[in-house]
Amino acid sequence: MISKRSGQFISFEGSEGSGKSTQAGMVHDYLKKKNIPVMLLREPGGVKISEAIRGLLLDVKNTDMTKESETLLYMASRAQLVEEVLKPALKKGTVVLCDRFLDSTIAYQGYGNGVNVEAIKKIGAFATQGIAPGLTLLFDIDTEKGLSRTNAVKDRIELRSLDYHKKVRKGYLAIAKKEPKRVRVIKVNQGKEEIFEIVRKHVDEFLGIPKYPAPIRCP
Ligand code: TMP
Repeated sequence: MISKRSGQFISFEGSEGSGKSTQAGMVHDYLKKKNIPVMLLREPGGVKISEAIRGLLLDVKNTDMTKESETLLYMASRAQLVEEVLKPALKKGTVVLCDRFLDSTIAYQGYGNGVNVEAIKKIGAFATQGIAPGLTLLFDIDTEKGLSRTNAVKDRIELRSLDYHKKVRKGYLAIAKKEPKRVRVIKVNQGKEEIFEIVRKHVDEFLGIPKYPAPIRCP
């Protein structure tokens, strides 16, 4: 069972206000309590250089950033995170949880902003060295509802139009339709504990965690 768990990579995806970061944190706590080696990362960011790139990407002052430049910056942040932390962690057998990964670029820059999706996939393969999540949990929420749940102070991406964010959501659902085995859609229409029950089942199945702990046998 340990070998099935080792080197497992799970990503958390969704449009604004979907609650994916909360759920990623809950999965992190859940696995830690089970003494499973686990690491929680976020994108863009996670390491010093990637956090600096995050600052550039989300700064509302960068209104003149082109969509190509934006795409490549997300990829640069990802390449740094993969080489510095993600790859070594997977090699060590740590379960890696990542709050966003390549699907975010396909949804936000590709479907949302019209960057060629095939080009994103090619650059993505280079940036990630081919490392991809085995399980992706996609948190799907009504776009307006999701946006209303974000902070009052918006970043450069959150400030984009409702139409843009609707395209992002559609993009995510298109990705899920193409890869139903990897991408599990979770409707955000109930409380976080109820949603976590669904999330936990997917995680348990993926990592091979038994539903009930084995009974203690008396000699
Ligand atoms: P966060 O709000 O989940 O921390 O993500 C930061 C923002 O960056 C969010 O608006 C989504 C956006 N984003 C992209 O547009 N493309 C990407 O590849 C990633 C990882 C995030």
